[in-house]
Amino acid sequence: MTTAIPIRPRERDALIQSLRAGVVPRLGQWHVQVGRSAEVQALVTDIDRLGHGGSAVRFVIGDFGAGKTFFLHLVRSIALERRLVTVHADLTPDRRLHSTKGQARSLYAEMMRNMATRAKPDGGALSAVVERFVSTALEEAQRTGTNPGQVIRARLAHLAEMTGGYDFAEVVAAYWRGHDNGDEQLKSAAVRWLRGEFSTKTDARAALGVRTIVDDATFHDHLKLMSVFVRLAGYEGLLVCLDEMVNLYKLATIQARNSNYEQILRIFNDTLQGSARHLGFVFGGTPEFLTDTRRGLYSYAALQSRLAENTFAGGGLVDYSGPVLRLSSLTQEDLYVLLTKIRHVYALGNPQAYLVPDDGLYAFMQHCASRIGEAYFRTPRMTIKAFCDLLAVIEQNPGVDWRRILSTVDVAQEGNPDLVGFEEEAAGPAGARGDDDFATFRL
Ligand SMILES: Nc1ncnc2c1ncn2[C@@H]1O[C@H](COP(=O)(O)OP(=O)(O)OP(=O)(O)O)[C@@H](O)[C@H]1O
Ligand SMILES: [Mg+2]
Repeated sequence: MTTAIPIRPRERDALIQSLRAGVVPRLGQWHVQVGRSAEVQALVTDIDRLGHGGSAVRFVIGDFGAGKTFFLHLVRSIALERRLVTVHADLTPDRRLHSTKGQARSLYAEMMRNMATRAKPDGGALSAVVERFVSTALEEAQRTGTNPGQVIRARLAHLAEMTGGYDFAEVVAAYWRGHDNGDEQLKSAAVRWLRGEFSTKTDARAALGVRTIVDDATFHDHLKLMSVFVRLAGYEGLLVCLDEMVNLYKLATIQARNSNYEQILRIFNDTLQGSARHLGFVFGGTPEFLTDTRRGLYSYAALQSRLAENTFAGGGLVDYSGPVLRLSSLTQEDLYVLLTKIRHVYALGNPQAYLVPDDGLYAFMQHCASRIGEAYFRTPRMTIKAFCDLLAVIEQNPGVDWRRILSTVDVAQEGNPDLVGFEEEAAGPAGARGDDDFATFRL
């Protein structure tokens, strides 16, 4: 389990900082990951398929706090390791898959801002990807003794054949001209266009001589173009991670929900029909987003039939091959293992430097159970945060007995913000006291 895996101080600090802030770590998640090995394996298969020219769509479905965002980040970091490009974003009321007032472009722009590669895992990688496209073309030109402009045009011909691809190719060509002439302004205009940051066609025309921009109507076409482009730049494919899909469920009108669900259907059909290559989607959402027949994906008949879960799975049998991947909440055992891992990371992998003994872990869990009930392990964000706080205090007060500090640790229960205003859904995991369960807990 937690054996001799080296942990770098920078990694430790980033991890602990995120966990203390109650947010999911973006890097090094695997140091604290528990469970989910079958689910991760399923996604690794998808990622490999993208590299071989395939496509994939997965809906990662789990209750509030079950670990959807953590899982999405984990998948993203695996994709980066395997030389894919990733883009990701949370949906919000102002960022959706379909709209007529700029919200889809706004989602696109957010995804492009977050574009990541192995060398730039924190985002902002789009210009590096374009730069790489140019430099690999230059290498080819040098190797084959061809004119660089010719190599670039030949490569861009792949794009020009696709919907919206003509202007996309023109913009990349403009970047290349900027590169060739040392025109930084032209280069940055090209990158801004690719990021979906031009809001009017007039501006785009003035800056780059193209007639179109990335807009609400071309959201999906541009993702497909981008997936081809990252291939041309030498990456394995493009993985798109969209979280907080429950925001579509919350849209007020049927029309708005349906047009967004229609986009999902398009994405889904493209995948099944093989017309999107090297392109994968992972959506994170709560169960109501999927199965609610009034507002969720199931309210859209064509999606309900495609996403219906395997009726043979269940009752202990699993099927990880379908588009829907259910994440069950963490168990007490998972949480225990998670605490051991955090302790291990905190001590930079040195068991001699552990700040609390195993007894301390049990006592901490007991403490949380008595304060907030079973939510402490099912929605563990606050528990994890409290544990990191505890370790920080022990570390800064050497010689103080952990027992003394433990009794003063405050853990708050977390409410589910998704369900505010959706009372009929509000049967959350609150309430049940975990003390009794705890007595039967075995590792
Ligand atoms: N497999 C895991 N291994 C280790 N820690 C995990 C795992 N899954 C989740 N966590 C931790 O549990 C907490 C909750 O996870 P996360 O935020 O991913 O849940 P969520 O399902 O996205 O919640 P929400 O419904 O609020 O979006 C986080 O602190 C996260 O770091
Ligand atoms: Mg989340």
